[in-house]
Amino acid sequence: MALVEAIGVRKSFGHTEVLKGIDMEVERGEVVCLLGPSGAGKSTFLRCVNHLETIDAGRIWVDGVPVGFRASGGKLHELRERDAAHQRRDVGMVFQRFNLFPHRTALENIMEGPVQVLGRRKAEVGAEALALLERVGLAEKASAYPGQLSGGQQQRVAIARALAMKPKLMLFDEPTSALDPELVGEVLDVMTSLARDGMTMIVVTHEIGFARSVADRVVFLVDGAVVESGTPSDVLDDPQQPRTRQFLAKVL
Ligand SMILES: Nc1ncnc2c1ncn2[C@@H]1O[C@H](COP(=O)(O)OP(=O)(O)OP(=O)(O)O)[C@@H](O)[C@H]1O
Ligand SMILES: [Mg+2]
Repeated sequence: MALVEAIGVRKSFGHTEVLKGIDMEVERGEVVCLLGPSGAGKSTFLRCVNHLETIDAGRIWVDGVPVGFRASGGKLHELRERDAAHQRRDVGMVFQRFNLFPHRTALENIMEGPVQVLGRRKAEVGAEALALLERVGLAEKASAYPGQLSGGQQQRVAIARALAMKPKLMLFDEPTSALDPELVGEVLDVMTSLARDGMTMIVVTHEIGFARSVADRVVFLVDGAVVESGTPSDVLDDPQQPRTRQFLAKVL
């Protein structure tokens, strides 16, 4: 089984169906970039993978486990929020906004999850957190508070914080779109190295250059449905669907 398998995922808000039967597979170590116009349902889909939203139909499995459900007695039972949070530990998520704890240093932000959620010892976690800061190029900022960091640095701390939970899967929702243009590269560099190290990633982005050089597959979503998917060169250089062509003409 692929690390992520989504079959027939549907989601409505009120009377509006925003996901209209999404199928997607992400193999272990694969990087999938999700592109599409505003309102296509990209964020909603990511939130469903993480069970921040409950789907109305279809099923999503992460590493063989049905997201938001527990199998027992041959039936699937919907998880209570506490158990859903437990399941969510395996999936790291990085949003457009950094969402760091403002009154904690970079290092403390990274240690928070392993210490508070996993109940691990501070001494052990501290060393790992430092190594993660080094990995994102911020070893010298361990004791800086978020307010003392640039947007790009904060986002790199946010990535390190997600990695501290040793996730099986990383979800990125436009991680660079709130950044000043000169800070985008440093965050994309960290994501690129993460991909090279074999992390499985689903990345919503408008950074076509990143999709082209890092993605194994590009999935193009419009109006809650997958319009086109394939290798970056198939989808980006030789799109078959008019909607894909229109979109790329705008963003390239
Ligand atoms: N909690 C919600 N309640 C009602 N409608 C919602 C909710 N979340 C999203 N929607 C609607 O669902 C649709 C898809 O939204 P979504 O945020 O997934 O799009 P997106 O592809 O991520 O767009 P963008 O590129 O602007 O981030 C939109 O029409 C949005 O207004
Ligand atoms: Mg979005």
